[in-house]
Amino acid sequence: MATIVNQFDVVRGLVRPYAWPLVAIMLLLFVLVPLARRRGMFMEGRGYSATGNFSFFVGRKHIVSLGGLDGRKTFFESKNLSVSQGAIELLAGLVSTNDDREDYGAQDFIKSFLTLTRPEILARKLPVLTDDIHDFRQRLSLAPASPANPQWRVINPFETVYPLMFKLILRVVGVSEWLEDAKALDRALWAFCGFESNCSRTRIVFPSLVTLTHAKKLFFGAILYMAIEKVVKQRKAGKRRDDALQFLLDQDKDVVRFLFSVLMSGITTQGCTASWLTVFLAHSPAWQALCRAEVDAVVAKHRANPSQSADDVLEGLSLQTWESEFPVTIASFRETIRLAMPGAMFRKNASGTAIPIGDTGEVVPDGSYASFHLDNVHMDSALYPDPAAFNPGRYLSREVGGSYDDLNLKQEEPHTYVGWGSGRHLCPGMRLAKWETTMVVSRLLANFDLEPSDRSGSKVQVPFPGPDRNGYRLDKPKVPIFIRYKARDVGGSVGE
Ligand code: HEM
Repeated sequence: MATIVNQFDVVRGLVRPYAWPLVAIMLLLFVLVPLARRRGMFMEGRGYSATGNFSFFVGRKHIVSLGGLDGRKTFFESKNLSVSQGAIELLAGLVSTNDDREDYGAQDFIKSFLTLTRPEILARKLPVLTDDIHDFRQRLSLAPASPANPQWRVINPFETVYPLMFKLILRVVGVSEWLEDAKALDRALWAFCGFESNCSRTRIVFPSLVTLTHAKKLFFGAILYMAIEKVVKQRKAGKRRDDALQFLLDQDKDVVRFLFSVLMSGITTQGCTASWLTVFLAHSPAWQALCRAEVDAVVAKHRANPSQSADDVLEGLSLQTWESEFPVTIASFRETIRLAMPGAMFRKNASGTAIPIGDTGEVVPDGSYASFHLDNVHMDSALYPDPAAFNPGRYLSREVGGSYDDLNLKQEEPHTYVGWGSGRHLCPGMRLAKWETTMVVSRLLANFDLEPSDRSGSKVQVPFPGPDRNGYRLDKPKVPIFIRYKARDVGGSVGE
């Protein structure tokens, strides 16, 4: 088997190539996904080089994996590394322009997105989001009892919480017509899931190859495109609405590009992390109790009169309260993202010149890609002791039951938590995602006890395997995960 060492001369300044067989790398990274030891390659490669940086080829693409502190700083701080060019080629399997002035509308999207998620606009959306969450909570209460245990009901959060998050994002930055018609919404979700899950990794190596997966992606993309076009036509014919789409049309923006960007950058991340959070809390009675205590304390603080139920109080909270009074829930969300988000981020050096990697004497050559595997920091036991454990206390001070004050201050080094990105490319959806997830999870905890379960409602006792660390991005679990819930016996519960 050919090795990449034979293909890439080690010359001064170039990052040392890592001697994994070329074919094996292609298979590991992109083809044999479920079996891949993708993470193993990144972690082993890091140890192979003194600086923590190493490089390899995928087909003809030269990828420099940045591992150490210099590498991290270069990855997150260099203005010459392009996110869009990297994503187009290594995540979408398309061919980029190789010109870092082309960002495929990313800055324009971020600008419009930030306008649409300004606090006063979010505050205006609060009642309609509250109604969605109210309906969700009602549906959970009315669901049939589980076969194994009539006291409990069962959900797969990736089939219940995930669609709710889809809806909540669209409420803020989407299309009203889809939200007014359950069928249209289901169809949009179906088409999005088809579009998103059919990413041909073979095309990353051979960009012009026509694969079945890519054909499926085009099919689902066409359905989404037609659904957007249909609404745009109606709007242009005079049917106005107070929503993101109208705002964009009035500004003469490219609405198709905007909506595809929302779908691609926000739905899976938010849908999956909110779902994983419920799973982690079901598996962690101690943190579930602490989050619930926080919800109960907020309810008690804002209860205007004794007849108000917990739901009534939560439904009346302001945006500011949601954003400032749930530190334990937010820490749990942060910890969920650390544990649930595997894989690497990518950039391309399309700047026309080599980019030095700090003081290491190494460079990311012009035309090469930089990658940063999240486990370089998120699974580093010097930064996160017992890194596989779900412990939101890492981010909380002793005052609120955490251990942050005792932790190694290495966490204050730059770019040690990158779950929302870091440096030049912080996630613009962070505020929206935190807000919506806190609203959903606190409503669940105010009303229900959660426990790990199998499909039939029997409690699962086996240790929880957690997200697949060899995955190449945040995703739904390959094997369905269930949790069971029942109305809380006492406290602020609305009960049934
Ligand atoms: C829990 C939910 C989310 C998580 C964990 C998350 C995570 C991230 C991360 C890690 C990055 C950095 C990627 C990189 O540096 O290569 C990022 C960037 C980005 N995210 Fe999010 N995200 C979430 C929700 C959203 C939502 C709801 C939207 C919008 C609908 C969004 C839009 C974006 C965009 C546009 C970028 C690129 C920013 C740039 O290039 O400067 N994200 N996100």
